[in-house]
Amino acid sequence: MSETTDWADLLFDQPLLDLGEHEKPDFAGVVSPRDEVGTTRHGVNAVFLEDAEAYYAKYQGFNYWRDMLDLVLAELKLPAPEVIVEYGCGFGNATLPMLDLFPAARLLASDISPNLLAILHRLLGPRGLAGRCLPVAMDALKPYVREASADLVFGAAILHHLTRPEDFVASAMRVLKPGGIAFFFEPLEGGYAVLLHLIEELRREAARRRSLPPLRLPTRLGKRIAGRFNRQFDTTQHLADCLERQAVDLRPMVFRGGPGWAERDDKWAFPRSKLDAMARAAGADARVIPLHDQQGPFRRQLLYMLETYHGIPPARVPGWALAVMDRYDQEVFSPEGLVDVALEGCVVFQKR
Ligand SMILES: C[S@@+](CC[C@H](N)C(=O)[O-])C[C@H]1O[C@@H](n2cnc3c(N)ncnc32)[C@H](O)[C@@H]1O
Repeated sequence: MSETTDWADLLFDQPLLDLGEHEKPDFAGVVSPRDEVGTTRHGVNAVFLEDAEAYYAKYQGFNYWRDMLDLVLAELKLPAPEVIVEYGCGFGNATLPMLDLFPAARLLASDISPNLLAILHRLLGPRGLAGRCLPVAMDALKPYVREASADLVFGAAILHHLTRPEDFVASAMRVLKPGGIAFFFEPLEGGYAVLLHLIEELRREAARRRSLPPLRLPTRLGKRIAGRFNRQFDTTQHLADCLERQAVDLRPMVFRGGPGWAERDDKWAFPRSKLDAMARAAGADARVIPLHDQQGPFRRQLLYMLETYHGIPPARVPGWALAVMDRYDQEVFSPEGLVDVALEGCVVFQKR
């Protein structure tokens, strides 16, 4: 059965061209507004472009995003939308759960990377979703989508990739019908600043421990004990190196704007005042729904980062480091304060 996506043409002022014919056969089924065809994709690198398949293999989190969407939609209690526009959809981590949650909706799934969208296109067909979801390659910062054409706009981890998110929020508000809602899942400065502080403390402590001389014991039993101790010492050295790299990577999300900042993938951990200012300038009101349950958030996030980005599984993280993480989770903030310094939140913009 052939599935038409004529509904999507109505959302654009210019024709949508199939990139399979106009750029590369691998991109068949992915469309772009005419002016976007063949353009250089600025602000993203090989991770989202040439290496899209590796990204897909490593970061599938459909169930995770389903849980996040359930949480937020339960809070927002939205009327069922007819037209949804998603920005930065990638290979569809949040797109597929959203199509499931709103079975009558049509969803324009946009991203700057045709490579990731080609994967989404591959996933849509076998699920019978190709008629109501169209992968569109376009820069979220360009105003291709017609004014007041969407009931709902959303994005999973897109705003913090943009150099000027305020321009994007203004453009998202333009696309929304009056009174419509846009929501975005994003990292927040409150939590990230604390996480950075924790990482710096762990890094200093790991460096102090690794500067101790290796243990040498004369007897056979002593050598065995010393061997085990010194292996831990190597682990501490490796941990210190990874923590240092992690701190270098996170710091520009909190202290933004330094050299090379605009070329990074992750650019922002958002301060609340910035979100409010973007909303005000775009004629909207902002609110933030904190994500996750705030049970041990800093330990959970750091263990995730150590495993995912540095290959250190939780079982290999030394006890002294876990104890420091727990101190941040349990002794620095009250349970209510932990909510205020959530690491991630769903930022909701309501168009006035
Ligand atoms: C962290 S990924 C998230 C992808 C997807 N939402 C997910 O959760 O798996 C960020 C996405 O933003 C896209 N992106 C970055 N800059 C963009 C821009 N200017 N316009 C549109 N998409 C952009 C990237 O190509 C990438 O797919």
